[in-house]
Amino acid sequence: MTDWSHRRIAVTGAGGGIGAEISAGLARLGAQVIALDLHQPVGLPASVRTGVLDVTSEQAVTDLVHKLYDSDTTAVDLVNCAGIVENDIAAEDMSTAQFDAVLSVNLRGVFLCCREFGRQLLARGGGSIVNISSMSGNHVVNHPQRQCAYNTSKAGVSALTRSLAAEWGASGVRVNAVAPGYVDTPLNSLKPDKHERWLADTVLGRFAQPAEVFGAVRYLLSDEASFCCGTELLIDGGFSLR
Ligand SMILES: NC(=O)c1ccc[n+]([C@@H]2O[C@H](COP(=O)([O-])OP(=O)(O)OC[C@H]3O[C@@H](n4cnc5c(N)ncnc54)[C@H](O)[C@@H]3O)[C@@H](O)[C@H]2O)c1
Repeated sequence: MTDWSHRRIAVTGAGGGIGAEISAGLARLGAQVIALDLHQPVGLPASVRTGVLDVTSEQAVTDLVHKLYDSDTTAVDLVNCAGIVENDIAAEDMSTAQFDAVLSVNLRGVFLCCREFGRQLLARGGGSIVNISSMSGNHVVNHPQRQCAYNTSKAGVSALTRSLAAEWGASGVRVNAVAPGYVDTPLNSLKPDKHERWLADTVLGRFAQPAEVFGAVRYLLSDEASFCCGTELLIDGGFSLR
């Protein structure tokens, strides 16, 4: 069984629906959680350490990782949960800046955090990283859901996860991903007109709750997942069975 009390785990995007649930859930298990977001995360259990981190800033990510190891050399595992989505922009109308903005948070940010946290884990002989990808990296719906930057970024997160897993697995650093379907969070509140269609497309006929994503993250972080290397757990309520 996993001894969570010896684990330090950083969560990005911890002010959002899924990231807050992951942070609170890990804290309830007894882990030392560092909850990070663009703005100071609020409403988390008192044991959670919070901080501001823009995952697109190489300097900020580097500084944060050094700060985490300043007075404590315990390895810090990582959950990359920060993410944004563009709202229904046709590809032919999407500006370069709009495309870059999504890729910058969802893919570059995941790479920067994996690299900086990963270097420290490699130096300590092991650790675990879980990236939140999405079913949208694989399943693109055509009714239409115009979000080519988001879909591309999430396919990138899946490929990055497998690439890092292959490079780092033998050194004891496990890199895995969780690919959620539609989850009941603020990310989806942008598109209320789409909800009826999404639920019709999902076999279970409902949104996932963030706690159902947390369960998969907890598993991949745990010692019970010690043979998972480049695994992506799809948590989509049967959406992909259509
Ligand atoms: N909600 C869904 O249906 C769903 C489905 C599949 C995947 N996901 C993924 O799950 C993750 C969490 O999404 P959510 O539903 O909780 O969304 P959310 O909007 O509730 O939370 C996302 C969080 O990311 C933070 N963030 C944005 N840019 C950032 C940056 N530059 N640096 C640091 N933090 C930043 C936001 O401030 C926000 O708190 C995202 O990666 C998202 O793509 C969500």
